[in-house]
Amino acid sequence: MTAPAGASRSGAGPVTVRPMAEADLDRADEIFRVAFGTFLGIREPRTFFETADYVRTRWAADPRAAFVAEVGDEVVASNFAADWGSVGYFGPLTVRPDLWDQGIGRRLMDPVMDCFDTWENRHLGLFTFSHSPKHVELYRRYGFWPRFLTAVMKKQLTGAAAEVPGRLLYGDFPAAGRPDALSLCRALTGAVYQGLSVEREIVAAQAQGLGDTILLQGPGSELDGLAVCHCGAGSEAGEDVCLVKFGAVRPGPEAPDRFERLLDACEWLAAERGLGQLDAGTNLGRPDAYRHMIARGFRTMLQGVTMHRPNEPGYSHPDAYVIDDWR
Ligand SMILES: CC(C)(COP(=O)(O)OP(=O)(O)OC[C@H]1O[C@@H](n2cnc3c(N)ncnc32)[C@H](O)[C@@H]1OP(=O)(O)O)[C@@H](O)C(=O)NCCC(=O)NCCS
Repeated sequence: MTAPAGASRSGAGPVTVRPMAEADLDRADEIFRVAFGTFLGIREPRTFFETADYVRTRWAADPRAAFVAEVGDEVVASNFAADWGSVGYFGPLTVRPDLWDQGIGRRLMDPVMDCFDTWENRHLGLFTFSHSPKHVELYRRYGFWPRFLTAVMKKQLTGAAAEVPGRLLYGDFPAAGRPDALSLCRALTGAVYQGLSVEREIVAAQAQGLGDTILLQGPGSELDGLAVCHCGAGSEAGEDVCLVKFGAVRPGPEAPDRFERLLDACEWLAAERGLGQLDAGTNLGRPDAYRHMIARGFRTMLQGVTMHRPNEPGYSHPDAYVIDDWR
């Protein structure tokens, strides 16, 4: 019988790194929960993140971008890379707590950096704990530099949400219409930051039944906004929660109004699904987006820092009305 994560003190022997396989998922998921729960001092680390799922959903989204480290033939750590077109980010990186500070985390940086080389992403990033010198230094060694804080926020939803005219759901498109819907989404995200594409997230949410993507019709043929939403247990949101994994509106003078409409549409989707909480994060390098969210009743539940390579804002600048947190 395998010792539970965090309990065996085997000491690190030779470490090997390889792509994650389906058979690794239970172990990797357990380590993911125990590692964060231990770092944050949770009483029962194993239950951390409750019904939310990151490991299985990210592996299923792109198994070639999920990696494990093994000591002997035992999985002891994992990491994931995400390809958002011109943007790439990674995480969650987690190592079994009794093996921290033995170089295993660094070993799992190499395959994600190789992914970014292959994908030729122009702007790379990650979300981490701003209060941890270890985390900041670990990632600095790979060329990342800390910039603005990112607020991961939540809003309790009470009562019925107003309907939002012009809201479409990707899941309602027939298969033949989906390529066009995806290219409208690409056009919108490309207007926010050249080459940015969250197609992977839209398709993964749909294919795995994690939630749906809101498309806001504009006055012309372009979209006014989009939001990839995870809904409920088994997704990144968890039970009773709708999580905006990525949301953005078309830039321009009317972007603040579009942003309000997008947030209305997210609240509406949550209400339709019977979910009582809306989670959404934004970088504080997007000050007006943050202000709008606070004014609507969002409150920060977790604050971290994003680290960027190169040390440039990417799409975290004052004119960007974007929701994401790179967790
Ligand atoms: C963060 C985590 C993945 C790191 O894995 P790890 O295997 O412990 O890290 P490593 O040993 O490979 O590297 C840590 C580096 O930070 C350095 N470091 C540690 N404390 C430091 C400090 N106070 N100041 C500067 N550098 C420090 C270490 O020296 C080490 O580098 P070295 O091996 O070249 O000396 C692991 O601790 C973990 O799972 N934490 C909980 C979950 C988590 O926070 N994940 C990351 C979210 S972004």
